[in-house]
Amino acid sequence: MRMYDIIKKKRDGGELTTEEINYFIKGVTDGSIPDYQISALCMAIWFRGMTVRETCDLTFAVRDSGERLDFSEIGGIRADKHSTGGVGDKTSLVVAPIVASLGVKVAKMSGRGLGHTGGTVDKLEAIDGFRTTLSDEEFIRQVKEIGLAIVGQSKQFAPADKKLYALRDVTATVDSMPLIAASIMGKKLAADDDCIVLDVKTGSGSFMKSAEKSAELARLMVDIGKRAGKKIVALITNMDRPLGYAIGNSLEVIEAVETLNGNGPEDLTEVCVALAAQMLSLAGRGTPEACAALARNAIRDGSALRKLIETVRAQGGDERLIEHPGTFAKAKFTHAVKSEKEGYIRRADAEAYGLSSLALGAGRNTAEDAIDPCAGILLRKKTGDFVRRGEEIATLCSDNPAAFGEAERILLGATEIGDERPEDEPLIYGVVE
Ligand code: URA
Repeated sequence: MRMYDIIKKKRDGGELTTEEINYFIKGVTDGSIPDYQISALCMAIWFRGMTVRETCDLTFAVRDSGERLDFSEIGGIRADKHSTGGVGDKTSLVVAPIVASLGVKVAKMSGRGLGHTGGTVDKLEAIDGFRTTLSDEEFIRQVKEIGLAIVGQSKQFAPADKKLYALRDVTATVDSMPLIAASIMGKKLAADDDCIVLDVKTGSGSFMKSAEKSAELARLMVDIGKRAGKKIVALITNMDRPLGYAIGNSLEVIEAVETLNGNGPEDLTEVCVALAAQMLSLAGRGTPEACAALARNAIRDGSALRKLIETVRAQGGDERLIEHPGTFAKAKFTHAVKSEKEGYIRRADAEAYGLSSLALGAGRNTAEDAIDPCAGILLRKKTGDFVRRGEEIATLCSDNPAAFGEAERILLGATEIGDERPEDEPLIYGVVE
């Protein structure tokens, strides 16, 4: 078999066989296929797409490219959630403790942020001492004992995806439906969960910009999950605007804690409760409506917050920061972004807000970049709010004051202000079962 022939076949619109897809992923994993041929095939897939059969084969090949985890020792029902990536998306920090506090095990492997989107691992590392790397034994023991552990993905885990993603990221081939589905589901299926809830984001801050495309991606991933024998549903949620008011690592941890305290922003709370409800429902705890009530109660009675504190303590983090989130270290400098005119905020483009926080040091352009845990944006106004001229719409936070000019320019350019209040958009567009 020759990689040249596989690239040519896909370039000309052909359907790849299972053997050809396995050959490709094996070569990606063992390094025998050069980067330029991998990139060329990704581009051919970007243009020509893949059938559901090809996408499933690609997903299973990615899943099998490294270690498969065995969680059978944990016992009980294990549920996980995965977001396709967004801005201000700190839902895992809220949802995982809610679900674990209600007795469903959550053995969570999370990613780092890249580009304008944030990652759960970076957020957790904003908590002093928090260890995002645990040995397999520690990880399994912790989930067994307290029901929740959150770690980063190890190198041996779906290694083909690591290589593919790095090349897609620099060859403009990230936003391909089959490549995204195989990347996300390949990793999810390598873990050993019974139930999976996907949070497929839609809108400017997500990889899929339209609700139709997001629904198609959701259906594809649910289909792949079912073929792999999982209980799986997807929620399609709004990422046209940032979720909550905080963007940036420690700022988002603080907002997640406030949400678990019952004082979180409405949009964030609603999405978190919906995601937790789906996880609990798949795990057999009742209808999504009944499970939403359980989730709200776990916030109200403090059990979800206690679960987060227990998890932070177990992973070496300073739990006092969670008990008293006001004590998190602050950025050395802040800068108020003021509105240049009066009116309603008609649009706050999520992707641009993410890029603005990136400019402040909250994210990374390449996997090697360092992150400033305190950097980010605190929104003072959101889409639909009225602002007066000169009123603060956001506070920028950074240790690097030289970044404020660029971050402010991006943010103001992405904030549309007009005379009419915009129509309310749905927060949750639908559920794909
Ligand atoms: N998240 C992933 O893990 N992979 C993608 O391709 C896109 C989002």
